Amino acid sequence: SEVGLDEESYERGEHRHFMIKEIREQPAAVARALTGRLDTRFHTAHLGGLNLDPREARAVRRVKIIGCGSAYYAGQIGAQLIEELTRIPADAEPASEFRYRNPVVSPDTLYVAVSQSGETYDTLTAVQELQRKGGRVLGLVNVVGSAIARQCDGGIYLHAGPEQSVASTKAYTSMTVAFALLALYLGRIRDLSPDAGRRIANGLKALPGQIERILAQEDRIKEVAGALAEYRSAFFVGRVRGYPVAREGAQKLKEISYIHAEAYPGSELKHGPLALICPERPTVAIVPDDELLAKNLTTLGEIRARHGRILAVAHTAPGPALADDVILVPKNEPELDPILLSVPLQLLAYHAALALGHDIDKPRNLAKSVTVE
Ligand code: G6P
Repeated sequence: SEVGLDEESYERGEHRHFMIKEIREQPAAVARALTGRLDTRFHTAHLGGLNLDPREARAVRRVKIIGCGSAYYAGQIGAQLIEELTRIPADAEPASEFRYRNPVVSPDTLYVAVSQSGETYDTLTAVQELQRKGGRVLGLVNVVGSAIARQCDGGIYLHAGPEQSVASTKAYTSMTVAFALLALYLGRIRDLSPDAGRRIANGLKALPGQIERILAQEDRIKEVAGALAEYRSAFFVGRVRGYPVAREGAQKLKEISYIHAEAYPGSELKHGPLALICPERPTVAIVPDDELLAKNLTTLGEIRARHGRILAVAHTAPGPALADDVILVPKNEPELDPILLSVPLQLLAYHAALALGHDIDKPRNLAKSVTVE
């Protein structure tokens, strides 16, 4: 109805779409996710709703994360954060796959279900299947009182605020922040030192200001997005911490610009996709300044040798011989870098879709929340 439209444009304020509004709300959303949750005395996280006492947390031998779409990619970042900070083996899997493969459920595994809406059917039924087999499930959920939030044995609310755009941005980022808090908490119960805890807590506090600095580059990102919109297909590459970032970046581009995009670990290019690198298929490369930098730069050289265009999302510009375009991202602690590296890719997808004239908030064939099988 026209009334509905008016209400909607009122809610969007000066923003052209919900997606860009929600991208710009991220500094505030992340600040909310952190509010009251950092303990400056013991350099750990306060997570009141976990329902997991220190002795139980200490007994966790494995962490298994389940979710769908962007929540699954956030879960991949979360699994790495948990494994790095706690040395507990952790991994993420699409909830829909998990549910149908008769998974081994063990009492010393901590299960984590991730969902913006808290209503995704595949995730909800995976939680129920886990509990039926005696598994303990935490929820990382945005919508308070949603089905998954109610079903879980405890959890962390994201406090990202309402998200309307089908393409998730602020909820996705808040999920990665909630995982960092969970990793800090579990890490400090185990062998993460007070100093290391302080390092991570300070890194988390720096995130809202650093996201502001990425958002301030919107005009520049819009330019490179305009160039990307000329292509029909793109590769996204990243390694280890950068790989889930690449996957989520490819997902965003596909969802709203309808440009075909595929993400690969940079190390896997030579095992197949290098055959497709050519001037018609640009690559978006995630190049953090971490222990894999030299390896990532080698990958850029391999792509360049096949005349592929490269857009590097990096902490330091790789130089004109290795990248045609660069988006610079502020450096945080290595474990937290993926949280920031994802943000410019949201703007990239948004502006590519805008350049192509697509219906950004309601992309074809997709729903905000899939409450059926
Ligand atoms: C749908 C949306 C995705 C979202 C996924 C999971 O497929 O289109 O953007 O990531 O559901 O949603 P959830 O609400 O569980 O995070």
